[in-house]
Amino acid sequence: MSFMELASSRFSVRKFSDKPIEGEKLEQILQAGRIAPTAKNCQPQRIYLLASEDAMRKINAVCRCIYGAPSCIVVAYDETRGAKGTEDLQYEGFNFAEMDATIVCTHMMLEAADLGVGSCWVGAFSRKKVHDILGLPANEQVCALLPIGYPAEGVQPSANHYSLRDSMETVTIL
Ligand SMILES: Cc1cc2nc3c(=O)[nH]c(=O)nc-3n(C[C@H](O)[C@H](O)[C@H](O)COP(=O)(O)O)c2cc1C
Repeated sequence: MSFMELASSRFSVRKFSDKPIEGEKLEQILQAGRIAPTAKNCQPQRIYLLASEDAMRKINAVCRCIYGAPSCIVVAYDETRGAKGTEDLQYEGFNFAEMDATIVCTHMMLEAADLGVGSCWVGAFSRKKVHDILGLPANEQVCALLPIGYPAEGVQPSANHYSLRDSMETVTIL
């Protein structure tokens, strides 16, 4: 499958089967995140793989968008480890940690799709509640949840998957 075929065929899965993901595939998905580019190669991401019943019960209690997935990757970042500019540099103190974490999440989402594993990027949750249930240190912030698992039988992309704005609405050639 070419990259464009993979990127086009991936869609948000919102109903999962109970079938657990094989350990080898989980490792590959995590590895795809590990090799993602990060600003100045700082690798500020902190990845939590929720796989136990207890961990899944906790995340389901604070987020409605886990969709019955057997596992969930929590993508967080250590804000003290992101590449940061000083005020006198061009990027005015900007901290790249969250941007890095989203790239890591994208890598894992696409690798999962390549392995036939479904996922859904979830942003609708209380960062504070997820931070609390995981007992994260103060320097770590939660960026995204990625419930993952095999899609339930018959799951199809939502209408949103096909709804693309005209490229000239989002691209400006100067
Ligand atoms: C940053 C971000 C946050 C999202 N948050 C949610 C969410 O909280 N719940 C959900 O069901 N889908 C969420 N999605 C999935 C989008 O709704 C979905 O990617 C979009 O509608 C396109 O559909 P597709 O992924 O099937 O191509 C999110 C996606 C992104 C990139």
